[in-house]
Formats: sequence, C-alpha cells, structure tokens
Amino acid sequence: MQIKRLSSQAADALLILLREEDTENFSNFSGLDGKLRDFVMSLISRKDFTGKKGSLVKLPLFDSSFKNLYLIGLGKEKKCDINLIRDSLAWGFRKIGRERNKTACVLLKNLSSYKELALSLGEAAGLCGYVFDKYKTKDENYEPFALEEIFSDIYDENEISTGIKLAEAQIFSREIINEPGCVIWPSTFADIAQDVAHEFNLECEVWDENKLKAERMGGILAVGSGSKNPPRFIHLTYKPENAKKKIAFVGKGITFDSGGLDIKPENFMTTMKGDKTGACNVLAIMRGAAELKLDIEIHGFMSLAENMPSGSAYKPDDIIRARNGKSIEIDNTDAEGRLVLADALCMASEIKPDAIIDMATLTGACAVALGKFRAGLFCNDDKLAENFLASSNRRGELLWRMPLEDDNIAETLKSPYADLINCGERYGGAIFAALFLKEFVDENIAWAHVDIAGPDFKDKEYGVYVKGASAFCVRTCLDYLLNL
Ligand code: BES
Ligand code: MN
Ligand code: ZN
Repeated sequence: MQIKRLSSQAADALLILLREEDTENFSNFSGLDGKLRDFVMSLISRKDFTGKKGSLVKLPLFDSSFKNLYLIGLGKEKKCDINLIRDSLAWGFRKIGRERNKTACVLLKNLSSYKELALSLGEAAGLCGYVFDKYKTKDENYEPFALEEIFSDIYDENEISTGIKLAEAQIFSREIINEPGCVIWPSTFADIAQDVAHEFNLECEVWDENKLKAERMGGILAVGSGSKNPPRFIHLTYKPENAKKKIAFVGKGITFDSGGLDIKPENFMTTMKGDKTGACNVLAIMRGAAELKLDIEIHGFMSLAENMPSGSAYKPDDIIRARNGKSIEIDNTDAEGRLVLADALCMASEIKPDAIIDMATLTGACAVALGKFRAGLFCNDDKLAENFLASSNRRGELLWRMPLEDDNIAETLKSPYADLINCGERYGGAIFAALFLKEFVDENIAWAHVDIAGPDFKDKEYGVYVKGASAFCVRTCLDYLLNL
C-alpha cells in the first residue's frame, strides 16, 4: 500500500470521517471543493448522514473526479480518540478496497494532532487489506482487495512509514499464527526464525531436544514429550552499536495445544493453533525492531512445543524440574504454557536485561475476567507498567493491570511433593499463572507478563482486525521500544 500526499482531488473513492459536531458545523469544513461540499452539505441537512458512531453512507458520484463517496461517522467529539479513528479508517479502507476502488483520497486533518494521525493512518492502511486466504482456491468470482494507493491531506513521511512498519510486523505475526498445526510445529517455526535472523542480520540460536536436556530445560522438555515433533528453544539477538538499553521478550509457542493427557473437549481445542501467538509476536517484534533500526539491544526468547497426548507424554502427578532447579508437580497437563515459559524466563533473567516482557495465550481465566478485547498485564515494576500501558493506550491494544501480589493465591502454589504445583483452583486462574511465572524471574529485574488469551483470536472482523489471529500486543511492544 502506498500513501501519498494529497495533491489533486481525484481518485476512485473519497473517504471523509466526521464527528457529530463536524456535521453541525460543516460549513467550516475545509478541503472539499464547491460542488462536492454542497452535496455533502445537503446529505447532512436531509439527515442522511449525522456522524453517528459506526454509521456509513456510501454513494456513487456522477460528474465528479471521484467515483464513490464514503462518509463514516465517528460519534461525539468527546469520545472520539485516535483508536476510534484508526479503527474507522481500517474499516473504511477495507470496504473501499473490497468494492474494487484502486485509489482513495482521505480527509483527516480536522480530527486530531498531525503526527498522531499520520502514524495511525499508516497502521490502518497497512492492516486494512489483510486476510488469511492462501489455501482458498481462487476462481473467477474471486475479487481481490483492490486498494493500492491512498492520498491523504495528512502527510508526515516518517510517522506514516513507522505506522506501516508496525502494521507489517503485526501481519508477519498473524501469518504464522494463522498457519495450522500441520504446517507449523517447533522445528518449522525455528526454520522461519532462522530465515528472519538471516534476512535481518540477527544472532540466532536454536536448541534441539539434546541441547535442551544438557541445559536442564525441564519445562519445555516435559510439555514437548508427547509429540512426535520435538520441542525447540530459540534465542534471537538484535544488537546495534551503542545500544542505550537491553530488553528481553519471551513468548509462549505451543504450536498446538490439545491439552495433552488432560485433553481439551472439542469446542475448546479449535483455534488452539493460536497458542503459539506469544512466540510469533516475539519473532515479529525482533524483525520489526531491526526494520525500525532501533537503538536498543533486544533479545527474543521463544519456547516451542506441541502439547499432545501419547505414550511418551508427560502425565499428571509427574514431578519435573525447571532450569532454575525448582521442582514442579504436574496437576494438569493443560497448564503447559507456564512450564515452557518458566525455562524461558530463567534464560531471560540470566542475561540481566533492563526489562523482561513475556506474552502468552496463557489462561482462559484471563479471557473470562477481562473479555475478548483486553489483555491482562501483570507487572512487578510501576514505571514499566506505566510506560507499557501508555503504549497500549496509544496503539489501541487495550490492557488492564492485574494483581501480582496475592498471598492467599500464592499459598496455593505449594505442593507437598515439590517446590511448586502447576495448577490451582479455577478461581483466580490468571493470577495463579502469573504468580507461578514470578518464581522464575530474577526479582531485581523489571518484568511484565501479558496474558493475551482473550483478544488473541477474533471470531469476526472489526476495526484493524479480521477473523483469525490478531497478533495482539505487537504494536504495543514496538511502540514501547520506540519511546524508551
Ligand atoms: N492455551 C490455553 C489458554 C487459552 C484458552 C488460550 C482459551 C486461548 C483461549 C492454556 O494452555 C490452557 O489450557 N489453560 C488452562 C489452564 C488450566 C488447566 C489451569 C485454562 O485456561 O483452562
Ligand atoms: Mn493448555
Ligand atoms: Zn496453552
């Protein structure tokens, strides 16, 4: 997708986003020439368009330099923030592109601050055309997304290009997440990571099952033991000269979560190809950081395993040992994410970064608590939490901070046979999981854990999302790095 500075008023589509207040004062609206302005004015005075949130008026134009007019309502000014604008733009561009418009003009400058708009325009333009349809046979009725060029009255080359890179990173992650378990398993994921490392000049280490044994990565080995596809641990490093900070990202990469011997019922097993989202996001962040040429040393740790039931699978009652020596009683083999993350968090702690950020589709409980549109943030450091929440608010990937101090729930981590048990009672399941992870993090390091089980997979399209993987948190993490 190309975004260009609006120079002449001509394109297949004209897109205008208006708040309710803008329709009341439309005579002040600048940027439209006489005839079109009168036309929009008459639509408004007939109440055909009032600017109501989520409303869309689409009309073919005759005798105009545009073929189609799209008006989108943003609702009341007070409640119209950059996230609503970004979502509305993505929605509008998606419609425009699907309705076979190749070029579009967009008028935005009345809406918000220039830079903020430019960056979000880049994100929306980058994300609007994405669908996962590579396995569909494309017959003569197939209509590809046509939109190729956007002319905008807001134009800041740097901000727009940053926005596009954020979007591309997110799409890169979605593309892998959406691949099913028959395509992506630990070693095929590692192949992709190696390709990325090669292309972007990153250091890359891949540990196979023998190395995992030698390195005492007992959590990853246990979870991977039931599958014919053995587990992998990946460490990518992006190391620019004179880096001003060192940040580690950790991702859960369960390429398929059947639950293991504590097997999931069928309705809970579909979409579990998405249980590798954390690792896909981390890979996308590494790639994005290199593309954005950030001046920060960044480490990506990814734990890849397939959680399957079989004769060799790990079992309830097993006692395993994580990399830091802590023993863990297995109560439920479906609580596998925390086990693969345990080893990875030890590894991240060992390199002593300024901060560790892990992300994982960890608990259904977090989705129950916060819904499907918001992820849970658990953090041992207020400054990190504040910065990370600010990024999340700017990028529209909503988070809610959850408690990481709870002595009563911490009490239930105890096992009579081992140092820890991997699963407690149903209530407070997301907090239990976070407290479990805390046992593997160096307490002197600022650490954030993001439980993305809720917003991970979209069942319908809206805003910047389409059905399937969201790759939620990629843009937030890159925004966090950009603002360090
Ligand atoms: N991958 C799941 C969590 C999940 C659920 C992600 C729904 C996305 C959507 C995780 O491994 C899991 O199975 N968690 C269990 C934990 C329980 C056994 C303590 C859960 O949430 O039920
Ligand atoms: Mn599970
Ligand atoms: Zn899982």
